[in-house]
Amino acid sequence: MFIFAGIVVLAAIAKGYQQFTAEERPPPKHFYEWDETGLQGHLLYRKKGCNSCHRALGTGEVGVAPVLDGVGTRRTPEWLRQYLSDPGQLVEGTAHYGNLGPDFRLLNESEIIRLAAFLSGLQANPNSPNYPIRVILDDSD
Ligand code: HEC
Repeated sequence: MFIFAGIVVLAAIAKGYQQFTAEERPPPKHFYEWDETGLQGHLLYRKKGCNSCHRALGTGEVGVAPVLDGVGTRRTPEWLRQYLSDPGQLVEGTAHYGNLGPDFRLLNESEIIRLAAFLSGLQANPNSPNYPIRVILDDSD
């Protein structure tokens, strides 16, 4: 009887310990990594009013243009730099030829570097809706 009670108590302690260790916080959906250049890019992003169409850092418009939270996970730094120099090479009929969004071909080299560093720092974790989903096209097996 006592042995049984002892086992129950031990099990309860073990369970409590397990819950204690399992109480780690879930990873944040979005995280941000900037060096000095990235921080300057954030300033430029706000000055140029990018969030009148885009959403980043949890603020800005939704529905007009892609959400930029997680863009640094979805896109490589090279892609972002190329897009900021000539978006038409990557996206056909791009809004960033001045049709709707600002014409990126008018950005100078220093602005491109700063904005690309800012955008690369907008990272997403797998529990974010902005995390890139790998599409599996081959379902043959
Ligand atoms: C008037 C609306 C508007 C404004 C302002 C705007 N954008 Fe955009 N942006 C768009 C649209 C629409 C797209 C969709 C892709 C395209 O047309 O090339 C886009 C796409 C993008 C993308 C590509 C996202 C992806 O992963 O495909 C980036 C990066 C981007 N914009 C950055 C910026 C930055 C930086 C600024 C400020 C300098 C800015 N945008 C201002 C409308 C806008």
